[in-house]
Order: sequence, then C-alpha cells, then structure tokens
Amino acid sequence: MDLKTVIAQQAERYDSFYLYDERCILEHTERLKRGFPQVEFLYSLKCNPDPHVIRSVFAQGFGADAASLGEVLLAEEAGLPKEEIFFSAPGKTPGELRTALSKSNIIADSLGELELLDRLSEELGTVTSVGVRISPSFSFSGGPGLPSKFGIDEDQLYRFLETSPLSHIEIAGIHVHLRSQELRAPALAAYYENMLALAERVRKALGHELEYVDMGSGMGIQFSPKDEPLDMEALGRAAGGQLDSFKEAHPGTRLIIEVGCYAVGKSGVYAAKVLDRKVSRGVTYLILKNTLNGFARPSVAHMVSRFSPEADPAPWEPMFTCRDAFQIQTLKDEPPCEEVTLVGNLCTATDVIAEGLSLPRLDRGDVVVLTNAGAYAAVMTPMQFASQERPAELFLTADGRVLG
Ligand SMILES: Cc1ncc(COP(=O)(O)O)c(C=O)c1O
Repeated sequence: MDLKTVIAQQAERYDSFYLYDERCILEHTERLKRGFPQVEFLYSLKCNPDPHVIRSVFAQGFGADAASLGEVLLAEEAGLPKEEIFFSAPGKTPGELRTALSKSNIIADSLGELELLDRLSEELGTVTSVGVRISPSFSFSGGPGLPSKFGIDEDQLYRFLETSPLSHIEIAGIHVHLRSQELRAPALAAYYENMLALAERVRKALGHELEYVDMGSGMGIQFSPKDEPLDMEALGRAAGGQLDSFKEAHPGTRLIIEVGCYAVGKSGVYAAKVLDRKVSRGVTYLILKNTLNGFARPSVAHMVSRFSPEADPAPWEPMFTCRDAFQIQTLKDEPPCEEVTLVGNLCTATDVIAEGLSLPRLDRGDVVVLTNAGAYAAVMTPMQFASQERPAELFLTADGRVLG
C-alpha cells in the first residue's frame, strides 16, 4: 500500500497526525552502517522520542544520545544497557546525575560538573568513569575555536588536568558536537580528521587510552528541493582511511557518531485536515487543523521568510533550516487551480504556513500533507497553546501495520 493511501485511511480517524514510515528509517540507518563499519552510532532521542521510532532505530544496533535524564530513562526502558546510553547536556542537577550514574555514561559539560561528579562518587565510595564534552580549539569550518555554552574549552581542560587531579572520577571519553545539517561530505570528513587529532591530544594529556571518542552529529538531510543530498558512500570513502588508521592504533577506543535528523527526519509526514474554507476580500483561506500548534517549524519558516529581506536567511538549527524546508502536498492528483493562504485553527493571526500557494481545490475534509516531519517536529511544537486537541503520532511498520 502506498503512503498516500495510508494517509487517506488514517485521515478518516484523525483530523491531524504524524505518520512515521519505518521503511524510510531502515534505509537511512542501513546507509549509515554501510558507510561507516568502524563506527558505533547513537540515536539522538531529542529529535523524535516516539516509542516505536526509538525501538526501530535501537533494533538496528544504535545506542542512545540522551540529552536529559528523561531520555536516559526512555533508552533504559527500551532495553539499552548502560554501555549504550550516553548522557550529555548542559546544566544537569545533582539529583539527575545521581540517578543517571548507574544507568548511563555521563558526559560532564563543565569543570564545575566534573567536580560535582567527583563529590557524588566520593559519597558513593566509588571511582566513576566519565566523559567530557569539549569545546575544541577548532571550529567546524576549521578556524579557531569559538565561545560556546557547551562543553569545556580544550585549553581549560588541559590546565585543569595539570593542576586539579580528581580522585573519584576517571576521564574515559570525549564528546564534541559543533554542527547539524551539513550536506557537504568533504566538510564532514575534514571535521572527523580534526576530531581524531583532538582525541590524540586528549589521550596524551590524560596519559591513557580513551574508551570512546564521540564525534557528535553533523550529517544532514535534504530539506529544500534545491539541496544536494549528502552522499553517504562518498563520505564513508573520504573518512574511512583515517578512521581505520585510528582504530588500528587504538583498538580499544570506541568511535561514535550521533545522528538524529539523518536517521528519522525524512521518515515523517504531517497530515492536517481542512476544517474550513473562506474568501475574504479576494483572498482564499484554508483553515487547517493544528498547524503552529501541530507542526510548528513550517509556520516558523514562513515567519522568518516574512521578516527577513534575504533570499536565503542563515539557518538556525533545529528551529529554522530554510524557507522551503517543508513541501506542501495534497492527496489529489489534479493540477493546481487556485492560489490560497494556508492558516491554522488557532486564535492568532501568526498561525500561517503559506500565502499565495497554488493548489488543487480543497474543501472541508480534504488533507494537506507536509514533508520532512520526522525530526524536531512534534517535539518542537507548542501543543498546549489554546488547549486544542493534539495531533496523533502514528508509526507505519516495515510490514505495513499502523501502530498508534
Ligand atoms: C549534542 C548533540 N548531538 C546530536 C544532535 C543531533 O543532531 P542532528 O539531529 O542534526 O543529527 C544534537 C542536536 O542538537 C546535539 O546537540
């Protein structure tokens, strides 16, 4: 059964819903595993913690990149052991750290957090292996390091290691994440090269091998039809040699890459029914169920376009990618015949997805479908606004069942 038929069937039950297609998730996770046989992948739960999505990705051998204690617990509930769960976030509370210590690899985000972890381990009478998130001396584009709210500046870490040896923690791994949504394979390969050099510097400063080098994310998906998709095979070839050499020199060190959007971003669509149609002073409005409060990013993209004079405003992931990041489709095979303004059913005028859009004629009960709704979609949407009914989240399994 094709996706349009499944959407039409579900639209008989739901006025607005996400549909995540497992076949698409499997295509993307397979591509990653084929491209990078030397690497372990973590799924960044923050981008889509739907329980079926999580289990589908974990079933492909992925571990968890958890950005909160809540995500550590979700990964644990889904069956992952401590070794496969990495907890990295700024501003963790002592209570969260205490609970997470036995359930995950904790990655300290600051020198203060390293000291806190040392105290907590002392209280527990243990020595804990922890990771450190580093803000490296290079930027993603290869220039000097930039100020960041994330991690410990690389040079500060080395000074700290010289002067403040902590007795109840051991630094076992490093984590860096500098960028999302990169489509250029050579830029990612150059970043991995810088990461491996950083790992060598930290290993020397510590005086022992690292258990893991977590290189964060970076791999992007095609949002705009103008985007050239990331060539995963070319990236695998470009980065493979250096990753293989590192593994040969340090066979006990796990090389890790995190992915959110790449794994699941293309798998989701958002469907919203037309609730009403009206013409006001020559403008045709289609009022949809749950737009800003169902899938916020298309409305945000429209808002940025409205206020930015630039043709291509700079992205600010994951809130804004580009003007045409979400394609607007219908279930009708007819050609466009009218220009419409697509708005939502909230009591605010800012709830607009598109103005002057050419579509086939749509009436009450017809369905509008938005693409690229698998990542940073439901989770980034203020669904509580005006106490409206929330969209459903549905999962289409690889063998064709729809799970709610
Ligand atoms: C530390 C970290 N890792 C991984 C990701 C996932 O990024 P993406 O969805 O672009 O793969 C993010 C996204 O914000 C992040 O902050």
